[in-house]
Amino acid sequence: MTRIIIAIDGYSSTGKGTFAVEIARRLGILYLDSGALYRTVTLYALRHGQIEWNGEILYRQLQEDILLGKIDIAVQPKEDGSMRVFLDGEDVSGKIRELEVARNVSAIATLPFVRNFVDEQLHRLGAGGCVMDGRDIGTAVFPNADLKIFMTADAEIRAQRRVKQMEEAGQHPNFEEILKNVQERDYIDSHRAMNPLRQAEDALVLDNSHMTVEDQMVWLDGILRERFNIKLL
Ligand code: DC
Repeated sequence: MTRIIIAIDGYSSTGKGTFAVEIARRLGILYLDSGALYRTVTLYALRHGQIEWNGEILYRQLQEDILLGKIDIAVQPKEDGSMRVFLDGEDVSGKIRELEVARNVSAIATLPFVRNFVDEQLHRLGAGGCVMDGRDIGTAVFPNADLKIFMTADAEIRAQRRVKQMEEAGQHPNFEEILKNVQERDYIDSHRAMNPLRQAEDALVLDNSHMTVEDQMVWLDGILRERFNIKLL
C-alpha cells in the first residue's frame, strides 16, 4: 500500500469527494471523509438529546462525553473507494446524510472541542496513508501532508452541477436560489473563526470548472509521476 498522505480542500460542490474517492480506488489507499466524521458526532449528539436547545449546558454534556471517550467512531473502506462510518459499532453511513444531521452539523463543526476530537480521529485513522477531503486538511489537520490540493470552480458552474444532481433526484430546484446558497456557503466556510477554509501556501490549485473527472485524473497522474514516481493511470 502507498503510504502517501493527500489532503484535498476546497469550496463546496467542487467535487472533492468524487475526486478523492477515485484517487483512493485507483491507488488502493484509504479515503477519509472528514465531513462524515462531523456528521457522525452530530448524530451522536442528536441521539443523546444534546442538541435540542442548542444551549451551552447541552454542549457541555457533549464535551464531557468526548473527553470521557464515549464516542466510538470507526471507518471501513468500500470496494468503490468510498468510506463506511460506524458509530458505537453501528453502520451509520446512511443516517448521517439525513436532513436532521445536515441541519445541525454546521453548528457542531464550529465547536473547538469537536474540531479537536475530529482532528484526533483523522490522525489516528489516516497516519498510515490516506486521501482526505475537507475544508482545513492541508492547513490545520495534516499541514505536513505529502500533497495538498485546493479545489475550486466557478460558482455558476457549481450551482449548475447541484441543480443537475437535484433534478436527477426528482427535485425542482431554482437556479438563482442554488447559486445564492453556493455563494453563502463559500462565505461561511471562509469566514469561520476556527480553521476557516483557505488555501495552504504549498497547495496546488485545481480549477475544475471545465474538467471531467477523467481530466482531473490525468492532471493528478502527471503530478504523482513527477513528484513521487507513482502511477495513477
Ligand atoms: O462536506 P460535508 O457537507 O459532509 O461537511 C459537513 C459539515 O462539516 C459542513 O458544515 C462543513 C463541516 N466541515 C468542516 O467544518 N471541516 C471539515 N474538514 C469538513 C467538514
